[in-house]
Amino acid sequence: MIDPQELLSLMKSRRSIRRYQDRPVPDELVEQMLEAARWAPSATNRQPWRFIIIRDPQVRHQVAQYAASYFVRWAHVEEAPLLIVLCGQAGWRWLHEDVTLAGMQLMLQAHALGLGTCWIGAVEHEPLIEILRIPKEIEIVGLLTVGFPAENPPPPARKPLADLVYYNVYGNQQPSDRAEPGTVKAGPLSILLRRFRIPIRF
Ligand SMILES: Cc1cc2nc3c(=O)[nH]c(=O)nc-3n(C[C@H](O)[C@H](O)[C@H](O)COP(=O)(O)O)c2cc1C
Repeated sequence: MIDPQELLSLMKSRRSIRRYQDRPVPDELVEQMLEAARWAPSATNRQPWRFIIIRDPQVRHQVAQYAASYFVRWAHVEEAPLLIVLCGQAGWRWLHEDVTLAGMQLMLQAHALGLGTCWIGAVEHEPLIEILRIPKEIEIVGLLTVGFPAENPPPPARKPLADLVYYNVYGNQQPSDRAEPGTVKAGPLSILLRRFRIPIRF
């Protein structure tokens, strides 16, 4: 097992990288990133994710035109030697959770391999669907830039845990073992259902 402190330090030292060296990402490293993504958890183990690996300069250039919001576009999308589109089965209820978890694993593995990534949320989906010939049963969740970093940005500040964590019920900042739960306003059907639900595990 990996040392917990090492894992924590890997997660803390990952940065969004927006400047890349002008050299390609070797296939073996791409494979390792995808292997990490493939082992992400997914609801009912559906594995709804699909990954589009974009190296072709013409396709990258086209995609970069639509990694944009109004009058600005992300310069690093054009410059990155590799783009990965994270997408998956449209209509799947947990598509975004599943694909995002896979994306996070991919980004951490990339970091462990000495690569930099950046999640690009501001993208125009419709043009990308056309450029990448994505069928209608597939939905885009995210776009990642990938490459060897040409910068070492300082970590953007994180909110302190004291501002983020409550105990037992929302708003309670005392780490006590006891709290008063709220009451559920349940109709007769919901009461009946609750009584007859069978616990399962699979
Ligand atoms: C859902 C999501 C969307 C993002 N969209 C963009 C984006 O469009 N362009 C960009 O340069 N960075 C984008 N980022 C990167 C964030 O700006 C970055 O994660 C955040 O500032 C924290 O910095 P760090 O990743 O270095 O810790 C996005 C990150 C996430 C998780």
